[in-house]
Amino acid sequence: MNREDFSMLDGNLIYFDNGATTLKPKCVVQSVVDYYSKYCANAHRGDYQNSQKVDSMYEGVREKVKNFIHAKEASEIIFTSGATDGLNRVVFGYFKSHLKPGDEVLLTESEHASNVLPWFVLAREIGIQVRYIPLDSHYEVTLENVKRAINDKTKVISLAYVTNVVGDIRPMRDICELAHKHGILVVGDGAQSISHIRTDVGWDDIDFFVASAHKMYGPTGVGFLYGKFDLLTEMDPISYGGGMNAMYLSDGYMELREVPIKFEAGTQNIAGVIGMGAAIDYLNQIGMQKIIKHEHQLKEYLVMKLKDLNSVILYNEDVVGSILAFNVKDIFSQDVAVYLDRHHVCIRSGNHCSKILNQVFNVNSTCRISLAFYNTYEEVDQFIESIKNIENIWQEIL
Ligand code: ALA
Repeated sequence: MNREDFSMLDGNLIYFDNGATTLKPKCVVQSVVDYYSKYCANAHRGDYQNSQKVDSMYEGVREKVKNFIHAKEASEIIFTSGATDGLNRVVFGYFKSHLKPGDEVLLTESEHASNVLPWFVLAREIGIQVRYIPLDSHYEVTLENVKRAINDKTKVISLAYVTNVVGDIRPMRDICELAHKHGILVVGDGAQSISHIRTDVGWDDIDFFVASAHKMYGPTGVGFLYGKFDLLTEMDPISYGGGMNAMYLSDGYMELREVPIKFEAGTQNIAGVIGMGAAIDYLNQIGMQKIIKHEHQLKEYLVMKLKDLNSVILYNEDVVGSILAFNVKDIFSQDVAVYLDRHHVCIRSGNHCSKILNQVFNVNSTCRISLAFYNTYEEVDQFIESIKNIENIWQEIL
């Protein structure tokens, strides 16, 4: 659906790597071009008309993000450079000063590196412990396993809403309810969920939530962090500079501005923020329900077709969502990706920034298809034809 909105889809490209980044619709590209070519100015710094227009566009996007994720206040939205930046701000800006040695954070082995590495650095810095909630036989998180993993020392649970290789959708509302009964805070990584499921941070009662614009049809290098207002008032910025301070003196005394501006030091990615706003408008115009239905049905079709092929091993066929991890027997995943590229199909291969998941899958690497609403049944059929002929791989890629 809506393929005509994407210049990249004008030719014969089959783009199945939406988990890495989504393609950008013309309206998003145009919104960025318009900012640079028609009303370029800094935000929150000028008194002339263009600057005021930028202020209102920039703050308008905060409102759009608030509505899109169903937060209570626009002030609970901080612009970041993406989900990784958001997670690092939460770990080092909030938890570094709120956890003590011996406190535990629960993750899973299918988290993205950005939700694992900052916690290990914090473990080194202040002596917290990182533990993993065991995954079930489908590599999914169950509430039962979360319950079993919690103990008196558990202070944080940090999980992706949707993981980037298994693609499972986590029961975050139930996890938050359980966690809060035990005084545990929950961090949600929305990088892979933001454009594939409906986000409602209020309903879930999640404490912190992060996402990247480039995985929701927006520009790269921009995203947002949501935090409950009370938590954000207790969070420290991790960078200091212009725009975020109310005053400072030559002896180092400083007063910071209010939430969220105290977290936005220096000139921000204004073009990116405006593009993210255009992407949100675009997603709203299509409608998340329509997107969810199409992607789920298309994945079912893809799984059904691939199951007919003896040469293919599927890892997450039962998982509802838009991501499929697979291998072709006896062929290294990267070779499969190069072969498919010759057939104009873009997929990702390797370990997908989730390097410990392979310990769970018990394979060194996988191929991954991650679908978007613009993918079609015809594209799946063409991909299947290519995989059927994969015995020609060495003639084609060597
Ligand atoms: N984190 C992105 C992915 O899963 C890059 O491909």
